Amino acid sequence: MCGIIGCVGRGDDTLETLVEGLANLEYRGYDSAGVALVGADGLSVCKTEGELSALRDRLEGRDPAGTVGIGHTRWSTHGPPTDANAHPHTDCAGEVAVVHNGIIENYQPLREELEEQGHEFESDTDTEVVPHLIEAALAGGARPEPAFREAIGQLEGSYAIAAVIAGSREIFAARNDSPLVAGLGQDSEGVPPQDGTGGPVFLASDVPAFREHTPHVLYLEDGDFATLDGGLTVTDTDGVAVDRGVETVEWDAEQTGKSGYDHFMRKEIHEQPWALRQCLSGRVDELRGAADIDLELGATLGVQFVAAGTSYHASLYGAELFRRAGVPAQAFLASEYATSTPPIGDDLVIGVTQSGETADTLSALREADRRGAETLAVTNTVSSTADRECDHTLLIRSGPEIGVAATKTFAGQLAALNLLSLATVESQHDRRTLLPALRDLPGDVQAILNDSNAEGIADAYEDASAYFFIGRGLQYPVALEGALKLKEISYKHAEGFAAGELKHGPLALVEDSTPVFAVVLGSGERAQKTVGNIKEVEARDAPVVAVTDGRNDAHLYADHVLEVPETHPRAGALLANVQLQLVAYHVADNLGRPIDKPRHLAKSVTVE
Ligand code: F6R
Repeated sequence: MCGIIGCVGRGDDTLETLVEGLANLEYRGYDSAGVALVGADGLSVCKTEGELSALRDRLEGRDPAGTVGIGHTRWSTHGPPTDANAHPHTDCAGEVAVVHNGIIENYQPLREELEEQGHEFESDTDTEVVPHLIEAALAGGARPEPAFREAIGQLEGSYAIAAVIAGSREIFAARNDSPLVAGLGQDSEGVPPQDGTGGPVFLASDVPAFREHTPHVLYLEDGDFATLDGGLTVTDTDGVAVDRGVETVEWDAEQTGKSGYDHFMRKEIHEQPWALRQCLSGRVDELRGAADIDLELGATLGVQFVAAGTSYHASLYGAELFRRAGVPAQAFLASEYATSTPPIGDDLVIGVTQSGETADTLSALREADRRGAETLAVTNTVSSTADRECDHTLLIRSGPEIGVAATKTFAGQLAALNLLSLATVESQHDRRTLLPALRDLPGDVQAILNDSNAEGIADAYEDASAYFFIGRGLQYPVALEGALKLKEISYKHAEGFAAGELKHGPLALVEDSTPVFAVVLGSGERAQKTVGNIKEVEARDAPVVAVTDGRNDAHLYADHVLEVPETHPRAGALLANVQLQLVAYHVADNLGRPIDKPRHLAKSVTVE
């Protein structure tokens, strides 16, 4: 996930403030970084691929001067991590510099139009259109602030944007669907003036960037424009001043990188609405009833998924999507695939891997490649080995995940696999019914995060020594994932089963102290069968927690219900998983486990 810092300083320490601000955002992950400063001699920009140490090296000896500046750490989404693709981006004359988080959906037509007008581009990024649009508006006679507004008014997509312009002692910023927060410097008593005129003024994508300078923050909202000069002015899209109110952040230093959450895992669970918007952004067109993922895949007769752990669960879900659309599809554990490779024929082989570096998955993909298969990586990591080695890549765009337990990347994988099946094999009818559900998905996840009673259920069952999870069809991978999440972070024994399998053996383990989490969505025959399975465990006095949308009788036999909004069954599976993530999190938290770094586990498993 990219990071933004901006500062209108009082002395000559703005450059250091920017670089330190970027260092404070390093936890978000990045692959290039840069800064731009406006001083008496105009605009200076310094940026580089790699880590901040590389940026510091490049700055050495140059010492660009100026009290107004912006900085950025980039996590690649359009184009690989290179010096040219690093932010800030500039216009042709080198007088406008822009940093951006998010995705500009209409950058391609904007770029073509600007190129026709003679603008020259240096990067592969969507961001670079913005400085050129500002340049065009300035050339048309607009003053800096209206020129910035005019440029932003042409953008579609999600953005947090900050710009500086040579000759102007201001930072211009705008936000839509991507966070942006201002920090107001304080006077010697620690009191910030409401308009920020008492001290330096800061801008960032996240408070940690400037937390060491001030705890006084003002959160911008979608549609807001901000101008930072000696003070801070916030206006709406029509240019009318709005009052966003100043808040005081109470977090201690350790919590800072977690934006106030106790753990990265909790933060990442709460980032899922944002991550899903990023994944879907610019890829669904409800009007046309189409999904566009910009992939040119060859004609395939079938699909084989290879993956490990959570990504394997996403693959089981993906395989079911393809089978439902009439395409033969199977999910394989990557570690088994390489030693006993099935016939591939004309199948497309899809490696699902958030890191793109899992050795088992890479080895399975290489085996498929050796046998002549077309390969596709579904990954979160641009320029990862899977991205580089596969014939195609579909990015899930979840932003970096720090907690070892995968949460938002699983949601991103499910969303991306829906896009893949929609774009390649689904009928027009299926597209029409699924697209509205995908559009509502971020809001539905947010509704669960706002109202979940998972914490109470975790409190009730934290002492159990074993937990079972059951589900059918698309809800089966969710049961497996619910169990995996709980076992890896709480160290409690948890197992997931296909709901119909319970009676073929595992039922012998069910006791009156074994909570059974049953995922049951919809009202069809499958749901009724799972309700039947719930009755089987209820008859053995086991406590039942139904994860349900209320369209079946599960609630009648359950001791507790975790509610899921009514939606398309595919979206429902993702929502049910959010409830189970929260249960796992709270059980582990109650037990005092080191949630972000569970024992014996690593974020990226690079050995077979
Ligand atoms: C569980 C978890 C692991 C990973 C697995 C594959 O929370 O994170 O099970 O899913 O190690 O990792 P990737 O997706 O990076 O290939």
